[in-house]
Amino acid sequence: MKGVILMLLSFFFGDVSNSPCFKSLSVDITNGVKDGHEITKNGLTYNSSNYYRENGSIYGCPCNFKKCIRKCCGVDEIMINKTCTKSDVEVKIPIHRKTDFIHHLDMRNETHKKLDYFYIHKRCKKGARLSPDLYPETDTFYIQEDGKFFAPDAEIGGMLDVGNYCVDVFHDGEIDRKFAAIFCADDLNTEQTIQHVVKKIYSTGEFFARFACDQ
Ligand SMILES: *[C@@H]1O[C@H](CO)[C@@H](O)[C@H](O)[C@H]1NC(C)=O
Ligand SMILES: *[C@@H]1O[C@H](CO)[C@@H](O)[C@H](O)[C@H]1NC(C)=O
Ligand SMILES: *[C@@H]1O[C@H](CO)[C@@H](O)[C@H](O)[C@H]1NC(C)=O
Ligand SMILES: *[C@@H]1O[C@H](CO)[C@@H](O)[C@H](O)[C@H]1NC(C)=O
Repeated sequence: MKGVILMLLSFFFGDVSNSPCFKSLSVDITNGVKDGHEITKNGLTYNSSNYYRENGSIYGCPCNFKKCIRKCCGVDEIMINKTCTKSDVEVKIPIHRKTDFIHHLDMRNETHKKLDYFYIHKRCKKGARLSPDLYPETDTFYIQEDGKFFAPDAEIGGMLDVGNYCVDVFHDGEIDRKFAAIFCADDLNTEQTIQHVVKKIYSTGEFFARFACDQ
């Protein structure tokens, strides 16, 4: 089962058409500083292999050359009842080497800058939530030093790229201000593909009930 899903993912996620990265991992750099074919924004310099034009704007692909962590909501927001909402709740992102905790990235003191991480703030439009707090046996996950997402016991398969998850603190009817993740199915292109992959995920019992549309 895990193998099938991973294979599907790598197949469909591999289809990026002619952009150098997925939309979900793109940042608008239209008003960056241009120098020849390079564009610099927020301290990052994008060369022509790392940006593309669409809708009259220019989008950079920071995760092509930086370690990225994907947070569902903005810097000072958490996910309250499926909506990104401003909050004072601290969001600390634990980083691991395999399953061993190494340190937290703390949004407030900007630990990520010193440690050379880039945050992508983008929620998944569809996906399934993993909440270790509710389902520790299956949903426990570990964000790796390189930004990959390791959920050894979830049916999504072992290791996910930054395009395939987002993490945040969630507050809703199910969990009360706890750190959790969404496994994203956004970049699956066609309805059919989505249904195919989702059916696989759905078919795994427990996981089925927790499929969270429009997260
Ligand atoms: C663009 O930058 C990447 C990463 O820094 C590098 O590997 C690549 O060769 C560069 N491409 C061009 C066209 O300069
Ligand atoms: C460009 O616009 C279309 C239609 O509004 C939208 O679906 C697409 O995501 C936009 N592209 C980017 C890179 O934001
Ligand atoms: C979330 O929604 C539930 C029910 O829809 C409501 O009772 C609760 O107050 C909401 N929570 C927050 C923090 O807005
Ligand atoms: C930032 O906060 C984290 C977690 O709260 C802490 O471990 C780290 O030492 C802090 N770093 C700095 C530079 O203050």
